[in-house]
Amino acid sequence: MDFEGKTAIVTGAARGIGRGIALELARRGSNVIIADIDEEPAREVVAEIQAGGTGANYCETDVTQQWSTDDMVEAALEGYGQLDVLVNNAGVGGAPGFATRKTPNIDDWQATFDVNVYGIVNGIQSVEKYMTDRGYGKIVNIASVAGRLGRPGFASYGASKAAAINVSQAWAFKLAPHGINVNAVCPGLIWTPLWQSIGEWRSSMDEQHAGMTPRQVFERAVSDAVPLGREQTPEDVGNAVAFLASDRARSITGQALNVDGGIRMN
Ligand SMILES: NC(=O)c1ccc[n+]([C@@H]2O[C@H](COP(=O)([O-])OP(=O)(O)OC[C@H]3O[C@@H](n4cnc5c(N)ncnc54)[C@H](O)[C@@H]3O)[C@@H](O)[C@H]2O)c1
Repeated sequence: MDFEGKTAIVTGAARGIGRGIALELARRGSNVIIADIDEEPAREVVAEIQAGGTGANYCETDVTQQWSTDDMVEAALEGYGQLDVLVNNAGVGGAPGFATRKTPNIDDWQATFDVNVYGIVNGIQSVEKYMTDRGYGKIVNIASVAGRLGRPGFASYGASKAAAINVSQAWAFKLAPHGINVNAVCPGLIWTPLWQSIGEWRSSMDEQHAGMTPRQVFERAVSDAVPLGREQTPEDVGNAVAFLASDRARSITGQALNVDGGIRMN
């Protein structure tokens, strides 16, 4: 197993894609810190991982605050003595209530950049000294296919994800001389609470989707956009992250890997 004896932090791991990533890393032997603002579902993921036989802890974390991501790293080092992998997955579609607005407002721009961009920057800034001193580390940032091409409607979200790809490249360059790999993964269409909000937004704002349930909106998006013709899953993203965070990917850095069934072939 690639991650036997290793420790990973996954932010936003209480549900959805982050949970899938945490479970895949744990299945390969890793101890995992579940770092999320939402305690109850995070503790359920902790219990699920512990039942599988590897270590797991919850760390209450708000990735928009540098002091909080500092605490998160300290918790990993205190609990397990080492930290090998950081997965910056926490993300939002906008400020609370974004699905009720036709166009993102200033709060949505602020929230997407606070969590989806500064959240990654904070996470990296909290681990880079430790990883640099050690001369080893794997960082994987969760961006999105929405960051590959600007689109109206969700411009704030797409722009934040394009920034997440750029930030990954910037730190890949900076940390490469220290034996640290930094990559991004761009998921496509995955049925999670986040996508449920997007489905609600489309069915209430967009005539084409009027009267459809969020799940029907999602299924139409999959059939319209995905060449492979199927939705992606948290496990699909977890598998890609596990590869990029493993020593088998030691020569890969600064990349953004689409896990999207072919939506964007770049
Ligand atoms: N679902 C998709 O189709 C899709 C596609 C492309 C990219 N993504 C990206 O994948 C990641 C996970 O998305 P998801 O669909 O699982 O979302 P989700 O809403 O289901 O889960 C997001 C998790 O992040 C946590 N979180 C939010 N703000 C936080 C903060 N400030 N600090 C710590 N934790 C915080 C939430 O509590 C939640 O547990 C996000 O970065 C998202 O943008 C999702």
